[in-house]
Parts: sequence; C-alpha cells; structure tokens
Amino acid sequence: MHRQRRHALINVLFVCLGNICRSPMADGVFQNMVAEAGLSAQIHVDSAGTAGYHVGETAHSGTLKTLKKHGINYTSRSRQLHHQDFDKFDYILAMDEDNLASIRSSLASNNQATVRLFLDYADGQKTREVPDPYYNGRFDEVYDLVLAGSKGLLEAIRKEYNL
Ligand code: 4NP
Repeated sequence: MHRQRRHALINVLFVCLGNICRSPMADGVFQNMVAEAGLSAQIHVDSAGTAGYHVGETAHSGTLKTLKKHGINYTSRSRQLHHQDFDKFDYILAMDEDNLASIRSSLASNNQATVRLFLDYADGQKTREVPDPYYNGRFDEVYDLVLAGSKGLLEAIRKEYNL
C-alpha cells in the first residue's frame, strides 16, 4: 500500500543543531542524489538547525570542502527550525538523539510527518547518530554516513510513493 501524498511535492527536511555542518552535508548529498535520479520535480530537500547560533551563515568550510570534493556545490545559508516546518515536511530527519528530542518536543500529537533518526535509513551502520564534526573536524566520516543514509532514504521514498 503506497502512502497518499499530502502535497504535490514530497518534502524532506534534515535537522542538526547549528545547520552549518551535518544537515547541510545531508541536504547537499541527498539533493544531488535526487537530481541524478531525475526526481527533483517530485522531491524537495531542505535543512534547518534546532538552534539559531549560526542563522544566515554559509555552511562550515569543512562541509563545503567535502561536498566540493564530491562535485557538489552548496550555497544555502543556516536557518533555524520553525513550527511551520512541521506542517510542510513529510520527512523530518534528525542527525542525533538530541536533535530528535528537540523536534519531538515541539511536534503536535496529530502531526503526520515521518520523524526519525536519519541513519535509521542507512544499511548496516553500527552508529545510529551522525557525530558532530564541529569539534573533531571529521567531515569525511560525516559524508560517508550521510551517503549511506541518503541511499536508504531515497530507496524508501521511491518505494513508499511508487516513484
Ligand atoms: P551542526 O554542528 O549541528 O552539525 O551544524 C554544530 C555547529 C555549531 C555548533 C555546534 C554544532 N555550535 O555550538 O555553535
């Protein structure tokens, strides 16, 4: 049974703390994957942070450098998660348990969105959380995890919406 679409577009939102490291990486990688699959008209991708520390800033240089290495040009700026996101997005995907708890604390009980840890979609990963590279600088590790999550997520969406 395929899920009824609530919107013309399927809306996917990646969420981390600052929206400068992990969720922009996921945003860039998944958007690129969607474009390569020819599904950009059907799947809209965005990202946001639970905190507003970096609102208006470009993504972290580590994220930009890693994305560039893989041929992805990312230009979005940091924004904070706001309550209208909960009505708009079909998938709200958290990078870690803290992000997930923040999202869930603001979510109405009747909300229809799929709200999960992003790495729940990654096949065969030991970790369920994307470690924060803000302090350890391990942006390549973030890329690898994000790539695995993105493959699984796209597969799941294609299956659910018969794309
Ligand atoms: P992100 O990383 O949540 O992956 O964007 C962080 C960015 C900024 C801060 C923490 C984590 N900060 O404390 O400013």
